[in-house]
Amino acid sequence: MNIIDIIVKKKNKQELTYEEMKYAIDGYIKGNIKDYQMSALLMAITINDMTKEETINLTKIMIESGDIIDLSSISGIKVDKHSTGGVGDKTTIVLIPLVASCGVNVAKMSGRGLGHTGGTIDKLESIEGYQVNLSKEEFISQISNIGCAVISQTNDVAKADKYLYALRDVTGTTESIPLIASSIMSKKIASGNDAIVIDVKVGNGALMKNIKEAQKLSKLMIEIGKAYNKKVVCVLTNMEQPLGQAIGNGLEIIESINTLKNIGPSDLKELIIVLGTIMVSIGKNIDEEEARKLVLYNLENNNAYSKFEQMIEAQHGNINNIKISDKYISIKSNKEGYINKIDAYKLGEIAKILGAGRFNKEDSINYKVGIVLNKKVGDKVLLNEELMKIYVDSTDINISDVINAFDIKDNVVIKQELIIDIIK
Ligand code: URA
Repeated sequence: MNIIDIIVKKKNKQELTYEEMKYAIDGYIKGNIKDYQMSALLMAITINDMTKEETINLTKIMIESGDIIDLSSISGIKVDKHSTGGVGDKTTIVLIPLVASCGVNVAKMSGRGLGHTGGTIDKLESIEGYQVNLSKEEFISQISNIGCAVISQTNDVAKADKYLYALRDVTGTTESIPLIASSIMSKKIASGNDAIVIDVKVGNGALMKNIKEAQKLSKLMIEIGKAYNKKVVCVLTNMEQPLGQAIGNGLEIIESINTLKNIGPSDLKELIIVLGTIMVSIGKNIDEEEARKLVLYNLENNNAYSKFEQMIEAQHGNINNIKISDKYISIKSNKEGYINKIDAYKLGEIAKILGAGRFNKEDSINYKVGIVLNKKVGDKVLLNEELMKIYVDSTDINISDVINAFDIKDNVVIKQELIIDIIK
């Protein structure tokens, strides 16, 4: 077998066998296959697609490339959650303690920011002292004791994904649906949970720009789940504007705390109730109506917030010390009207320029900076009324075109639905 024949086969739109893909992936991890050869193969896959069988085989190879976490010592059905990534997406931080407060154990491994989208682990690190790296024993023991833990995805789970993802990020091959499906599902299956609820973000601020692509990705991930006897539910959600009001690490933690205290933004609340209902229904094997009542009860009675406090304390975080800048620039509207669009992608990029994200893998994060929106799509705005606050660390930052992220119309604007589709 040789890598050139494999690249040419995919270039000619032929199906690759398990052995051929294993040869390519294992060879790449070992360094026998070079970056330029794997880049060519990834590009051929991106252009010519993969069959369901090829994608399931690729997922298997990626799972086998690393550790498989054994969660069997934790009682009950374990339900995981994943998001394909968006702007202002702090869902995990609210959802995990909420679901745990309903009596479902949650073992959550999360990632860092990617491109213009933030990452749960970076956000949690804006809480002073919070430990994102626990040993497997500490992870399992914390979940058995308090019902949840959120830690950083270890490098040992689906090792091949680390290598492939870094290369995809710099070769224009991030949007391939089979590559995304195998990347997500290999990590989720190797993480050892019984069921997975996936928030598939759709829109300008997301990886999936339209509903058709998002549905295709969802159906493929459900098929991969079936091959491993794992229940997968995909919830397609709107990412045409940022989720909630805050973008940026420390600011998103404050918004998460407010949401756990039931005083957060309505779109984030709606999303955690929908996702929480599905997770609790699967985890407790009860119908969705009963699960929804339980979710609402625990949210409204401070139990979800108490669970969050327990989790932060168990992971050595100081909830009274969240890094946020005290300097901000107020951006005011230059006209009166109704908010028609808020460019999530642009605001994600601005947050990155402020320091909330990375341009290179090695960059460090500024936890204090970000954006807080005062207006969302559908809201009325007056001339000179504040649209948003930009939290900065130094004021010499160039954010002159930030106002263009808002599109303001003269007539009333109908808000888009947040939940687009649920595929089981
Ligand atoms: N999230 C992942 O984990 N992998 C992808 O390829 C895209 C989003």
